[in-house]
Amino acid sequence: MLTAEDNVLLTRTGPGTPMGDLFRRFWQPVLLSEELPTPDCAPVRIKVLSENLVAFRDTDGNVGVLDVNCPHRRASLFFGRNEECGLRCVYHGWKFDVNGDCVDMPSEPAESNFKDKVKITAYPARDYGSCIWIYMGPIETMPELPQLEWATVPETHRNVRRWLQESNYMQSTEGEIDTSHVSFNHRWFDLSKAPRQNLARRMKNGQPMNNMDGAPQLTVKETDYGFVYGSRRDVGDGEYYWRVTQFILPFYSLIPNPGDREGGRCWVPMDDEHISVFQYSVSTDEPFTDEQRKLMNVSPEKLLRVKYEFADGSVVDTWQPERQMHNDFLIDRDMQRTVNYTGIASGREQDMAMTDSMGSIGDRTKEHLGTSDTAIISGRRILLRMARELQEGVEPYAPSHPEVFAVRAIDVVDTQGDFFKLLEEQAELGKAQPIS
Ligand code: FES
Ligand SMILES: [Fe+2]
Repeated sequence: MLTAEDNVLLTRTGPGTPMGDLFRRFWQPVLLSEELPTPDCAPVRIKVLSENLVAFRDTDGNVGVLDVNCPHRRASLFFGRNEECGLRCVYHGWKFDVNGDCVDMPSEPAESNFKDKVKITAYPARDYGSCIWIYMGPIETMPELPQLEWATVPETHRNVRRWLQESNYMQSTEGEIDTSHVSFNHRWFDLSKAPRQNLARRMKNGQPMNNMDGAPQLTVKETDYGFVYGSRRDVGDGEYYWRVTQFILPFYSLIPNPGDREGGRCWVPMDDEHISVFQYSVSTDEPFTDEQRKLMNVSPEKLLRVKYEFADGSVVDTWQPERQMHNDFLIDRDMQRTVNYTGIASGREQDMAMTDSMGSIGDRTKEHLGTSDTAIISGRRILLRMARELQEGVEPYAPSHPEVFAVRAIDVVDTQGDFFKLLEEQAELGKAQPIS
């Protein structure tokens, strides 16, 4: 459990908050590149760390991310004209380029220099790894983009999806470093009814190894990029099933997977009660086929393109899964008795039903954490420590060392029972590898 004060510190990322300051030291993915498909296409509304923004691709193909509200009289630039290398407000014609400079102000006399004095908030933006990334921190600490494997592989080997979820970023971040839930929340009594992507499981004697030991032993090791933890399941015959997972600052997961597939998710705060989720998959071998992409896109099952309105009237353009809290994730009680543990048909929604039902910001003062929560405790401790240190002037290490992000999750059966020795012996498996 946490104190109420630490829970606030951990979960609030708006402007001026300690965690918000920390997150602003990192580049963050904020929308898919395909959402701005062509020069001068329609702008897209986003919300990042409680700031309302608009993204557009200008005539030269450069991406701009600006405050959504025009600095003149605050009309939304979403309605703007995206033309001739700038986004023009359609109220009085003020026009802004990707750097936030006001490049035209037709409502003022031609001799006026007022436009040179007006600037709109603009964040540096990059196309990278099929996503648009922005940097919202001080310009003097702006780092290179992080060398996350999923972002650096050829597009043919990558699949990325994005959707909105109605809960604080930390609940999903914790869900991803909580390996023991896999034995329960994602259990199928009848594997033949599972969506195909769930069949990539290690089996022994006809049993998924995940189900063979519901109380895995966890060991955590702090690293430059966050931490790595190993979950060891005893699968008999002197063998251990190791799932080695990275928590990459500030909010990325890498999920161990048998075979030639890597992947994970990140949870970018829109505000303190909503996240923009990016789910990335990488083929470490051949390019993805259309059939493989279709199968990857079954969880969440169906993403609907929506205009999502917040309580304060702000709006974003995003996707949402069909199964959501308001329809109880379409739980099927018959299925829950006979087919799987949750009665919810797909893996992501099984997770969402748990993390989003904690409340939009979970109350960590009321929890009872056990030994299986070791990694969650570490994740919280690291983020809280870094947020406090930054307030004292200590910059985080990872953002300015983009190479530390190039790691891979490990999924292996081994006779080695010691986590630290396993990491040494299987060091190559834990590194991102160039794809030929
Ligand atoms: S409100 Fe945008 S130009 Fe006036
Ligand atoms: Fe899960």
